[in-house]
Amino acid sequence: MATTLVKQAAAPVDTAQYAARIDHVSKSFGRPGAQQLVLDDISIDVAPGEFVTLLGASGCGKSTLLNLVAGLDRPSAGTIDVPGGRPALMFQEHALFPWLTAGKNIELALKMRGMAKSERRGEAERLLQLVRLGGAFGKRVHELSGGMRQRVALARALAQDSRLLLMDEPFAALDAITRDVLHEELTRIWSETSVSVLFVTHNVREAVRLAERVVLLSSRPGRIAREWKVGIPQPRRIEDSAVADLSVEITEQLRGEIRRHGQH
Ligand SMILES: Nc1ncnc2c1ncn2[C@@H]1O[C@H](COP(=O)(O)OP(=O)(O)OP(=O)(O)O)[C@@H](O)[C@H]1O
Ligand SMILES: [Mg+2]
Repeated sequence: MATTLVKQAAAPVDTAQYAARIDHVSKSFGRPGAQQLVLDDISIDVAPGEFVTLLGASGCGKSTLLNLVAGLDRPSAGTIDVPGGRPALMFQEHALFPWLTAGKNIELALKMRGMAKSERRGEAERLLQLVRLGGAFGKRVHELSGGMRQRVALARALAQDSRLLLMDEPFAALDAITRDVLHEELTRIWSETSVSVLFVTHNVREAVRLAERVVLLSSRPGRIAREWKVGIPQPRRIEDSAVADLSVEITEQLRGEIRRHGQH
């Protein structure tokens, strides 16, 4: 405890040692007297530039925790600190505005960030190129495939220029091949920028494919069951044997958690 305090005191405010600090966070829902404890004493630091996946069974509180980090809800106990400002969010559903084109969806995020009108078009084009959708600027949302929509959603999240990207099962609704391609894109973009990522999934392979660190949550209430540093060099592929081996080990633990809580 003492060393932590000394470290914090020595660090200037704008060069924080973490992109997000989740400190002894608990969350309950319901009325007083009939409360359901969903998250119990969760502490996670996401380092600047780190890629962390949060893994757990359905209903264990992953989205709840991400929403707390996003500032959409408040913890019942504990604190959350995101020193780099408002994080960018990406959900399973793309949440694009259907009446705007792909490009205009991104321009809107740039506008909300305060970017001058004259610069927005060029920047939106650049972001679409980054997610390999150059040429899709004028396409309406309904003209895009599911994978293309998620790419636009990723470009829009990047348009916010946040230091922290929060992703809640963003590729869960996609077919395996499209998901594979988007894993590659995300890994490339992450390694080319200094963005930190907190990525929620219940897919073990996906967690290991992407992350530098996998944090496993138990269920009812969600607690940190275990975490793994993933030392496998990037770029990885989901079918790599090292990814498979670690996935087997983590799946065993996850099964144990699910058995213990009688789910599925
Ligand atoms: N606003 C709310 N009010 C009451 N209960 C809630 C609320 N939000 C979530 N819960 C409950 O909290 C628990 C965790 O939900 P959460 O959505 O965080 O799970 P999850 O891990 O994201 O699941 P999934 O993998 O299915 O998305 C569930 O039992 C859910 O019913
Ligand atoms: Mg969820």
